[in-house]
Amino acid sequence: MKRLVILTGAGMSAESGISTFRDSGGLWEGHDVMEVATPEGFKKNPKLVLDFYNQRRQNLLASEPNLGHILLAELEKNYKVDIITQNVDDLHERAGSTSVLHLHGELLKARSTQKPFKSIEWRKDINLGDKCENGHQLRPDIVWFGEMVPAMELAEEKCKEADIFVVIGTSLVVYPAAGLINLTSHKIPKFIIDPNMPDITKDFFAIPYGASEGVAKLTEHLKIVK
Ligand code: OAD
Repeated sequence: MKRLVILTGAGMSAESGISTFRDSGGLWEGHDVMEVATPEGFKKNPKLVLDFYNQRRQNLLASEPNLGHILLAELEKNYKVDIITQNVDDLHERAGSTSVLHLHGELLKARSTQKPFKSIEWRKDINLGDKCENGHQLRPDIVWFGEMVPAMELAEEKCKEADIFVVIGTSLVVYPAAGLINLTSHKIPKFIIDPNMPDITKDFFAIPYGASEGVAKLTEHLKIVK
């Protein structure tokens, strides 16, 4: 089976009712990224940061995968599909995708603020005073700006080995994730799905639709890719 590698961003989950970051009305319009998504912000006002992610988690638990997520999971019938996502939701997994690499962490996990940073399943709010087994405050298992992206090396390997590459719903402005598109072979077919195309579309076949309609169209295009 051909290896289909798919890089997704916030637009993938927009139709599930999860806000993107940089569209008008997006999360970074109402929240200061330096306050809520950096280690310095957490140090300064941990409650504000925990509350921000508690809201995101509650919103996620009330959301469902959209048709785009479901159609991507169905591609596993015909391809070896690897999803690399910048999203911290679990909607790809809930739709049935079996290989999902989270570059920016996961909302339904918590981790200690002190080493060892062991992740634990966590579906409730994280409050001040919630501690790990060693007695240290818990925080969301999210990769904040200025922190390492531990999954990056594996993501790079997957991109280099892709036979077909697809980008869905990301503005491609956050690094190192955005750099992954440059690691794929020049020879392979590449597709990008976004109703508001980012500027990088040179080597890509553009599908200018939202995720659900776009993935349906992608599935048709893939049938004629040799
Ligand atoms: P952005 O909010 O930057 O970009 C969202 C993209 O989705 C844009 O290109 C939109 O045009 C597109 N879009 C909007 N609606 C869509 C739909 N229905 N279907 C498909 N696409 C749609 O989000 P990301 O690129 O994912 O990181 O942002 C990258 C990172 O920046 C996030 O992981 C997050 C953020 O700060 C951290 O918090 C560490």
